[in-house]
Amino acid sequence: MKHIFHEGVNPNRILLLLHGTGGTEQDLLPVAKMIDPEASVLSVRGNVSENGMPRFFKRLREGVFDEEDLVHRTEELNTFLTEAAEEYDFDRSNVTAIGYSNGANIAGSLLFHYKEPLKNAILLHPMVPIRNVEIPKLNGKLIFIGAGTNDPICSPEETKELDELLSNAGATVTVHWESMGHSLTENEIIKAREWYEEQK
Ligand code: MLT
Repeated sequence: MKHIFHEGVNPNRILLLLHGTGGTEQDLLPVAKMIDPEASVLSVRGNVSENGMPRFFKRLREGVFDEEDLVHRTEELNTFLTEAAEEYDFDRSNVTAIGYSNGANIAGSLLFHYKEPLKNAILLHPMVPIRNVEIPKLNGKLIFIGAGTNDPICSPEETKELDELLSNAGATVTVHWESMGHSLTENEIIKAREWYEEQK
């Protein structure tokens, strides 16, 4: 998968960056700098193109996912992470994902489908990636969700459903609410950084 890897001053902390629809591997680099300027960064571009806009998996229409493709692309990303860990010599169990929108959804899908795909996750405006799957045990996983009270793409009810699904699987979930629709706000990144600092 097309990606950027920067080794950090502290290579024991790795941030996996997953952009939103129409984004690239460049988009979340400033966010990573704000969250942990010392960490290594692996930023990946989604392999799917929707009319030229990169995504991490296909959708049938806004908010309705192609579940077969989602499962396939989640496996592809999971395999890529194993290969990248080998190539760049990092420990996969030290990876914290930072995903926005479509990138948050594939990060959520990694957690829904695989055991120990990530250490922790910062999910910015995520949806429930898929329903009716048995989520692996997530005990010990810390998850920050940045959500919008008026997010037109992910309703507050869906955010609460995601919180419940992850919490029921054993994760410790922190939800931070903003009221700027689906936008990624500076304030939610500041809140995510405060949360991240507490975990270090
Ligand atoms: C998706 O994965 O489709 C998102 O939640 C919405 C988007 O990326 O526009």
